[in-house]
Amino acid sequence: MAESSTQENVGEDNVASVVVLVTGGCGYVGTHTVVRLLEQNVQVVVVDNVAWTTEGTEDSKPKSLQRVEELTGKAVAFHNIDISNGDALEKIFDSYRFDCVIHLAALKSVGDSCRLPLDYYRNNVAGTVTLLEVMKSHQVKKLVFSSSATVYGEPQYLPINEEHVTGQKVTNPYGRTKYFIEEILRDLCTSDPEWSAICLRYFNPVGAHPSGRIGEDPAGVPCNLMPYVAQVAVGRRPKLAVYGNDYPTPDGTGIRDYIHIMDLAEGHWAATKKILQNGSKGSWLAYNLGLGRGYSVLDVVKCFESVSGRSIAVDFVCRRDGDVASSYSDCSLASSQLDWKASRTLTDMCTDMWRWQSINPNGYQSN
Ligand SMILES: NC(=O)c1ccc[n+]([C@@H]2O[C@H](COP(=O)([O-])OP(=O)(O)OC[C@H]3O[C@@H](n4cnc5c(N)ncnc54)[C@H](O)[C@@H]3O)[C@@H](O)[C@H]2O)c1
Repeated sequence: MAESSTQENVGEDNVASVVVLVTGGCGYVGTHTVVRLLEQNVQVVVVDNVAWTTEGTEDSKPKSLQRVEELTGKAVAFHNIDISNGDALEKIFDSYRFDCVIHLAALKSVGDSCRLPLDYYRNNVAGTVTLLEVMKSHQVKKLVFSSSATVYGEPQYLPINEEHVTGQKVTNPYGRTKYFIEEILRDLCTSDPEWSAICLRYFNPVGAHPSGRIGEDPAGVPCNLMPYVAQVAVGRRPKLAVYGNDYPTPDGTGIRDYIHIMDLAEGHWAATKKILQNGSKGSWLAYNLGLGRGYSVLDVVKCFESVSGRSIAVDFVCRRDGDVASSYSDCSLASSQLDWKASRTLTDMCTDMWRWQSINPNGYQSN
């Protein structure tokens, strides 16, 4: 069994003995977060069912994790397990003594969640309950959770801070899974002061590790703007459909808050340090992770054209149901309580995204 330590005060110098379980660690957010943890000498164990790839099926590591190991020169323990499989999770918890869990494993397609809501509730909500039960039975009661700005539904005011109402006018089952899990965690922390949970409400993670070795590798047609733009730039798709150019914004296209994936990974490390401090015991906390300002669809397209030197063909089509004109975050709470602030610009996001996409035109299947 790997040894762990109860962290009285986790600083940069005393993390070598920290053991963290990362669920969903083979995915986009997971790989970048694992790199950040390994850079801090945290011992990382990944559980992932790698449903998106045929690799890594019998505990051999998928390419995304192999590249994490290459980048950091450090090993990651990997277990090909579904979080809904309580027996298999029990064995993992018997083998390591975790200080905390960073829970990223989820299905995340808004469109699929509307077609297959039960799959989403089973995988995301029931899977999380199974994970929490196993954590509880092993006295591991600290969780950092991948939430989303989608829990805010239609913004009532801007910028959105953590006091904004959640769970109202959330337009799809995927978003409701995030809201329900936040509420489950809140109930758990209220019921037992030994539990602590930090919900990280991401705005729109984009970009890639500056090496170009790891990045977002969406299965099928990308649902988000930046990966779609990148695939048009690299020639995988003919043009970008822009949904609506008659919004009350300066150029008529929708405005969103984008955050560089490396800033997001640093946010997970900041939250992990906070939750390992005894001071956060018995608490349920939520933090926005965003840049704190918005960019329009056309801002993103122009910036991507400029860094890639490729032109992006655009087709303006009707607005989509459920889309809002503008959404961007107030991240001052994360700044004051986690000592975290996003520092990378839109140009950094597009530059790193383009490096990843151009070196790996077909994602991890490229070479
Ligand atoms: N990327 C975004 O735009 C975004 C925005 C807000 C929130 N999030 C959340 O962040 C988390 C990570 O997202 P991502 O972009 O890295 O997605 P991803 O699809 O790249 O990674 C998710 C990983 O979880 C794994 N997984 C899914 N269900 C599992 C299960 N039942 N058991 C074990 N592993 C399972 C998948 O195989 C995958 O490797 C998700 O919870 C997602 O909802 C992502």
